[in-house]
This record gives sequence, structure tokens and C-alpha cells, in this order.
Amino acid sequence: MLPVIYHRYADKTNYYLQAVGAPTAFTCLKHKDHTIARRRISGPFSAALLPRIEDKIDTWLHEWTDKLRDEFSETGESKNFNNQTIWLVYDMVSDITYGRPFGFLATSSDVNGIINCADSNELFQNAVNMIPSLLWLLKNTWLGHFVLPKRDHLQEAKRLAVLDEVDSSTGQGLNIPRMLLKAKAADGTSMTIDEVASESRILLTGGADPIVSTTIELLANIVGNPSCYEKLAAEINEAECNRQLSNPVATFEEAQSLPYLTACIRETFRGAETTITMIPRAAQKGGVQILGQFVPEGTHLSATPWITHRNRAMYGEDAEIFRPERWLEAGSEQLQQWKKYDFQFGYGSRACPGKTIAHMAIYKLSLQILRAFKLRRLNEDCARGDCFTRHVDDKSQRDLGLSIERLRGE
Ligand code: HEM
Repeated sequence: MLPVIYHRYADKTNYYLQAVGAPTAFTCLKHKDHTIARRRISGPFSAALLPRIEDKIDTWLHEWTDKLRDEFSETGESKNFNNQTIWLVYDMVSDITYGRPFGFLATSSDVNGIINCADSNELFQNAVNMIPSLLWLLKNTWLGHFVLPKRDHLQEAKRLAVLDEVDSSTGQGLNIPRMLLKAKAADGTSMTIDEVASESRILLTGGADPIVSTTIELLANIVGNPSCYEKLAAEINEAECNRQLSNPVATFEEAQSLPYLTACIRETFRGAETTITMIPRAAQKGGVQILGQFVPEGTHLSATPWITHRNRAMYGEDAEIFRPERWLEAGSEQLQQWKKYDFQFGYGSRACPGKTIAHMAIYKLSLQILRAFKLRRLNEDCARGDCFTRHVDDKSQRDLGLSIERLRGE
């Protein structure tokens, strides 16, 4: 069914209507407009940039682990472990995106409310996604004051995205706004400052937030399943003893060579809540037959990974359960099928261009934490047996109640 809904000529529906800021590749409704917009943002996702991105991630992970060791694990304190992870990822992604960190870790705070702005955007987006006509009401009445993202946060994101960075001639490093401003469409036109600001902001929030959520879900799944944690710790320990992992930070390639870690990451992606919402497309011209039923043109059709990744015909009777071993037991035909219907990063021509960057960040960050610290649940009542972690995308649930102890790297 996925190829029928997410074919290359599928238009997005008004579920994606945008309240503020210039339209982006992500919010283009018509597939023809999207083709142009996607080409214009392709530069930052080129494979040639990956080594530079990995260098940035290494620097951040090295400094962060040292800081955590000093400030945190020596006292046995556990509070703010989640905040530390969220701030690290937002600093890391802002450094990758804008050529400098926004200072979340340095100030131990949500600088200019940017993370909060991403959350209020989400609240608004969820409402409009379900009832698109709400957009008019929210934009034109006092109701919008409470729900729409605050203007000053967006202005701030824009200032940081463009004015502050592009006007300075000094920065020679990775700077995506600058890269986007230089990019030309096939007809020779460039993006406007507003378009660059919107695209850059989406890269920051659309990139950082799912990386944080998935990493926290991964750690919660591991700590919540002691036998998995034991196997993973043994695998990492063996790799350390065999000198398979670089210091102070393992390379992406080294991290991917650990089979059980890979299985845990794949299994977390399978059950993750990062894309629990719909990803709708309009039924094509002339309508379409789905499961023997005629669906008229323009009907909103959607699948969600939350459902497809729990399909028992595909993953077995225990599809609801976090069991990384399934990825090690599966034959090549089975793995091929799972790969084909892997939906966490979307499907078809509008699938996520940041998939490799996200994988790189999640592999390296989770391995770095597991190498350096022993994670423990503070509240044993939270132990969840073999179930998937629930609702970590909800901010209030993000606090895993984990404590960390120094493990290596004295
Ligand atoms: C675990 C991490 C991530 C997940 C689960 C994820 C998921 C997704 C999904 C499901 C879509 C398609 C949405 C749709 O069809 O409506 C998407 C699109 C997109 N993602 Fe990601 N993403 C992640 C990380 C990133 C990162 C790190 C970046 C950038 C650095 C990024 C940039 C984008 C962009 C620009 C689009 C719009 C693509 C288009 O419409 O052509 N994502 N992402």
C-alpha cells in the first residue's frame, strides 16, 4: 500500500498548511513545486559533507562526555540527564546547520525559547493537521495568540539563521544558510532570505528533535530490558578489548559494525513514536483502488509507521515487543522486505534527506554514552519489561529518571 499512496506524483494535502514563515520543501503541497524546492536544499545533504559533519559531532561528544564526567557522575546525581542530552543535540545540530552552536549547554537553558518554539509549533501543527480550517480561525482571531508559535521566537530563529551569519564574512566553516543562499534553481533564481530562514529553521528543529527523541527512546528501551543491556554492554566491552573502537569517540563506521547495537537501533526505530502522526497525500487524479475499494481523487490517504511497523504479518506475533534479536535472526529475504517497507523516515520522493546525518548522530551519541557511563533506572517502578518505551516524545515523559555512573575514561 505504501507505494500506492506515496508515488512520485503524489501531492501533499492541506494537513501540511503552514502558519508562519516562508514555505519550505517540507510544506510544498504540489509535487512539481516540491521537485524544485528539494533540489535547492540538496547541497547540505551531499555525501561530501558527511566527514565534516562527523568531525563536528566528534568534537561535541568528546567535550560533552568530559563535562558530564566532571560535573555529574562524580556526585552520582541524576537530574537533568535528559536536558543535557537535549541541549547537546540542539547545540550540535545548530553548529552543523548554522556554523555555530546556539549555546544551550553553555547557558544550561533553552536559548531564546527555540526548543519551546519547536514544541509550540508542534501543538499548533497537530491542531491544524486534524482540522485544517482551524488555520483561518487561528490566524484571524485572538485564539491564535495562545496557539500560534510566538513571533519573536521565529524572528530570533531568522536572525540567527541569516542576518547574523550570512552578513559576517569571517565564517569559512559549514554554514547551511550561506550554502542555501548561493544555491540556484534550474531557472537561475535564488532563494529569498525569508525562504532560507524557514528552511534553516526546519533543519534545526526537524533534525534535532527526532534525534533527541530517538536516542532517549533507545536508551530507555535498553535500560528497561536488562538482558538487552547486558548483551550490549558485553558487545561494547569486547570491542573495547579488541581495540575496535577509536578514542575518545568511535567512528560512525565502527559503531555500525557492532551487530547488537545496530539491532537495538533498528528495533527502536521500528517502535519509535517520533512519527506517530499521519503523513498524508491526496489520492491521484481519477482516484485509486485500495484493497478492492475505490477512493475518489483528492481524498486524504495516509499511513503511519506506528501501525505499519507493528504489522504482525511482517514482524511476527511479537511485533508489539522490543526484541532486537529479530534483526539478527532474520534471513536476507526478510531483511530486504523490512528495508523496503521501512517508513520511519517517510517514503518515496519526499522521504527524509537527513536520514544519514540522523543515523550518524544516534549511533555515535548512544555508543558514546554507553561506553562512558553505566545507566541505571532511578525508579524501579518505571521498569517496563520487554515493551517499547512509550510517549518519550511528550516532554513531560522525557525524563527517564536515569542515573549515570562513570565507567571508563578516567
Ligand atoms: C531520527 C531522525 C529523523 C526522523 C525520524 C525524520 C523523519 C522524517 C520524515 C518521516 C519525513 C517525511 C515527512 C513527510 O513526508 O511529510 C522527513 C522529512 C524531512 N526531514 Fe527528517 N527526520 C529525521 C532527521 C532529520 C534530520 C537530521 C534532518 C536535517 C538535518 C531532517 C530534515 C528533513 C527535511 C528537510 C525533510 C523534508 C523533505 C521533503 O519534504 O522533501 N530530518 N523527516
